[in-house]
Amino acid sequence: MRVMQIPSDHPLLLRIVDDLAEHGWSQQNIFLPLGLTQELAAECRKRSAEGELAPAAVGRGPTSEIREGIRGDHIQWIDPGQALACDSYLELMDSLREAMNRGLYLGLEDFESHFALYPPGAFYLKHVDRFRDDDRRMVSAVVYLNDAWLPEHGGQLRMYLADGVEHDVLPAGGSLVVFLSGEVPHEVLPATRERLSLTGWFRRRGNEPF
Ligand code: OGA
Ligand code: MN
Repeated sequence: MRVMQIPSDHPLLLRIVDDLAEHGWSQQNIFLPLGLTQELAAECRKRSAEGELAPAAVGRGPTSEIREGIRGDHIQWIDPGQALACDSYLELMDSLREAMNRGLYLGLEDFESHFALYPPGAFYLKHVDRFRDDDRRMVSAVVYLNDAWLPEHGGQLRMYLADGVEHDVLPAGGSLVVFLSGEVPHEVLPATRERLSLTGWFRRRGNEPF
């Protein structure tokens, strides 16, 4: 397989940009191709089997800590050049970044992302993704890597939208959800099965002096 690319004016990306502009979030049930979804799931399981995933921390910097009562997922940050499937994912996200910059003038400069594995029963309580002391995260993006996910498996991403509206997203393989990181509180409900995803954040430049 070669690294996959998609032009930043692809209709799928333009639809996501329009949704973000209008509503502050977007859900695409058919985003990642099946083959790539399966390869990313295999990569996540391999890293897990090799002990590379670690319990995720809450917060950032010196005060971050592991708190399973808040979030029970295991994560590993990804970098380019580690696996072809990850590089394809990063290319797709870079095209989405360009599309958002062109359509929304967000000035997104980089993307950070990690694999996440929620063991059965694990959850992530209601939160927002932007840190109190660091407002660089602008847009959150989650892609799901699970085969044949059914509503009775649980594991929904529950989003708290404007006007008291709640919206649940099933973590079905190949789907993508994006939302404004500072504006959409959300939580991950416990599942009866292992739940795999890649979660990432598009960031603008910080205002700290260099
Ligand atoms: C997160 C998160 C949502 C999901 O990692 O911050 O909210 O559906 N993930 O996995
Ligand atoms: Mn989150």
